Amino acid sequence: MDPRYPQIAERIASSRYVIALTGAGISVESGIPDFRSEDGLWSRYDPLEYGHIDSFRMNPAKVWRMLLEMDLLLSRANPNSAHYALARMESSGYLKEIITQNVDSLHQRAGSVRVIEFHGNGRELRCDGCGRSFDRGALTLETVPPVCPCGGSLRPNFVFFGEMIPPSVLEEARLAARSCDMMLIVGTSATVAPASHLPHLAKQNRAFIVEVNPMPTMLSSALVDIQLAESAGKALTAILSELERRDSGKRTEYNGE
Ligand code: APR
Repeated sequence: MDPRYPQIAERIASSRYVIALTGAGISVESGIPDFRSEDGLWSRYDPLEYGHIDSFRMNPAKVWRMLLEMDLLLSRANPNSAHYALARMESSGYLKEIITQNVDSLHQRAGSVRVIEFHGNGRELRCDGCGRSFDRGALTLETVPPVCPCGGSLRPNFVFFGEMIPPSVLEEARLAARSCDMMLIVGTSATVAPASHLPHLAKQNRAFIVEVNPMPTMLSSALVDIQLAESAGKALTAILSELERRDSGKRTEYNGE
């Protein structure tokens, strides 16, 4: 057993405010490839041509070809052990909240309650013209782009490149990053701003930072205290087991008094 797991569990248990920052890597074990790996979306589609709001406005039907592929992946995915481990950490009182860059809703489906969706979500479509929202499940998407009764094109309710993070979401995430004394960074390449600034905010506040990622990132040598070169499922399950072992040890001690 890697001695860093009990060390991390100890640290979580003694911290005041633990948060997680997650990215596409946490959902890879749910069957959703991340963006920048070999089979990722941005390796097959040029992000400027397909992920930028200007491209969407210029040719929504073309961008929807990529969006349909993403929509299909999201519709087939279920939470994995990493999502469940974070949900369990929250319900046991160890984890305050999750800031996720993912739009797949898998944290909520695993039972997490405090989730800041930094880049929005895929549950809703929104008219790019009048702003009206529609439940994704209520639409068939047989023809693309789907069109609003007002004539505008519908787009997923997530942030495209070239768009601002909604100010209230940005503020909420920054507040969490500034308030935490421990941050678990799971499955993000930390290459997309402003999400990539959040670990720096946490570090300015002297937070202890654990990164879970099979590959090193720009953060690994710059500000990470412990880098676990593991899949999210394996690492978070091991951390949760250590937390639960500690808890059951405590209960036994108490009963024995
Ligand atoms: N467990 C943990 N990490 C993993 C796993 C796994 N099983 N598999 C891959 N990873 C790591 C990769 O090594 C990579 O560093 O997850 C990271 C995913 O990085 P990206 O594909 O860049 O995804 P992300 O950081 O979430 O991207 C940020 O970019 O295109 C935008 O809006 C999109 O929210 C996304 C943002």
